[in-house]
Amino acid sequence: MKILVLHGPNLNLLGTREPEIYGSMTLGDINTQLIERGKGLGAELKCFQSNHEGALIDALQDAQMWADGVIFNPGGYTHTSVALRDAIAALKLPVIEVHLSNVYAREEFRHHSLISAVCKGKVVGFGWRSYTLGLTALAELLEEGAAQ
Ligand code: DQA
Repeated sequence: MKILVLHGPNLNLLGTREPEIYGSMTLGDINTQLIERGKGLGAELKCFQSNHEGALIDALQDAQMWADGVIFNPGGYTHTSVALRDAIAALKLPVIEVHLSNVYAREEFRHHSLISAVCKGKVVGFGWRSYTLGLTALAELLEEGAAQ
């Protein structure tokens, strides 16, 4: 089982970026946790972060060639990007949307996601555990052949 873990803009700053909202773990720490967790689930992970919308779209399109599913935190693009939504809609792979923070307990503009309707599921508000929860659910769905 192969899974792309994709992180959007500003997530490279985790650890120092608003730690009261996003926690103190760095992106490297989160990726290490995920790769370890993936091993236990029989999943091989590739992790990629970009601050650029086009690079995220390229990574999604490329995933069609090698991955069985995607864990995606689109960061601020969640609330703005029609292009990322279109890229996910075109993908014949299950995508799980994740957010560290509880976006519904924050500013109004964060309550709406352009991405959610084209994703298999979504995990929000559990800090770095949003990623591991999303990964566990995706791996189980893939295992059962129930991911599409
Ligand atoms: C975020 C929530 C977004 O609203 C914000 O723009 C981010 C991080 C999260 O993981 O909580 O960059 O996706």
